[in-house]
Amino acid sequence: MLKDKKIILGVTGGIAAYKAVEIASRLKKAGAVVRVVMTEEAKKFVTELTFREITGQPVTSDMWAEIQHYSVAHISLAEWADLVLVAPATANILAKADVGIADDFLSTMLLATKAIVVYSPAMNTNMFNHPATQGHIASLKAKGARIIEPASGVLACGAVGAGRLPEPVDVVEAVEKIFAVKQSLAGKKVLVTAGGTIEPLDPIRFIANHSSGRQGYAIAAEAAARGAEVVLVSGQAAVEPPVGLAKFVKVDTTRQMREAVLADFDDADIIIKAAAVADYRPKTVAANKIKKTDDDFVIELERNPDILKELGGLKKSNQVLVGFAAETQNLLQYAQSKLEKKNLDFIVANDVSKPGAGFQGDTNIIKILSRDGSVEELPLMTKRELSAIIMDRAEAKLK
Ligand code: PMT
Repeated sequence: MLKDKKIILGVTGGIAAYKAVEIASRLKKAGAVVRVVMTEEAKKFVTELTFREITGQPVTSDMWAEIQHYSVAHISLAEWADLVLVAPATANILAKADVGIADDFLSTMLLATKAIVVYSPAMNTNMFNHPATQGHIASLKAKGARIIEPASGVLACGAVGAGRLPEPVDVVEAVEKIFAVKQSLAGKKVLVTAGGTIEPLDPIRFIANHSSGRQGYAIAAEAAARGAEVVLVSGQAAVEPPVGLAKFVKVDTTRQMREAVLADFDDADIIIKAAAVADYRPKTVAANKIKKTDDDFVIELERNPDILKELGGLKKSNQVLVGFAAETQNLLQYAQSKLEKKNLDFIVANDVSKPGAGFQGDTNIIKILSRDGSVEELPLMTKRELSAIIMDRAEAKLK
């Protein structure tokens, strides 16, 4: 499974760094080519020499060391890797990787790589459970990184709870499982829309909706993890785009989204429209800030194009077209009508008035309605878990 896989093992400064030696050894024995990148703090726990001897490869830690092996070391190493495993991952590296701080070799390389990135957090329980750390972990996951959950037990600091680096055999198994996920969409192009479009009223104000982009970004991340060439067209979003995208297009208005989608539609194999699109726009956009008066103010709206309906008309028999329906009442009835009117292969219906469903959060509750009349009801799950099911259904239609 790991034969000839190119793996960078990032080692950060925690007491569990000693376990990274066995992880490196096991990865190498499994056939991987392992290059270790250490932080300065990690070198206080384990030596570079140990890793060099174990892996048979040079070890990197100094951003400014004389370059011997790579043209621009952190970039070429970042491009070389199939997978980057950070084990142990301290609270510090999780925070830096999340916000994009690049102040040493490892953090700079994490910012530059397009490879799969896996973090195996290990730290004191309170540090692990702190909202800041949990927030960074959730945010890294949303960007496509994988997290190996820490084990529970007595920690080196004497505390009891979650925060222990799992046994090296388990860390290596987790890496093997990631490679085992079949690249079922290799060679396929997937076009995803996400986030909310906005419509300006004047240079300061606009009409918007609550979409955070989380559902659509999770779908894009899932498709990229399956090896697809993913184009993500996004309106306003509260989260960072996932890693591994072929193209990311940021738009504001519905008409801009239409243009971006049409530019990539023709050769797309699967199209998933998770964006919350403004159906109307102000008829006139004031050149300057609209000043308040003592009178009421009426905004006249005009129709925006229905992008998905247009795609339904253009759709070829080898393309799979998937829409979403965000409703607050008559979910099945309205979703069924959109499925037919927009010529979709299936539609993902979410009742956005239900707690845990729809806008903003990390979870959703969906029903999948297909052309054959079937309705698949799914319980509350994370948006990423649901994305895997949505991609499974889309892949099945492709075949
Ligand atoms: O982004 P999150 O915070 O994670 O929230 C997720 C979500 C609630 C936005 C998502 O799950 C969702 O339901 N997206 C679709 C929202 C929506 O606009 O639904 P709709 O029923 O109004 O539109 C039906 C379909 O037509 C959608 O696929 C929409 O993208 C598309 N559409 C709608 C109007 C329009 N003018 N053009 C379109 O293409």
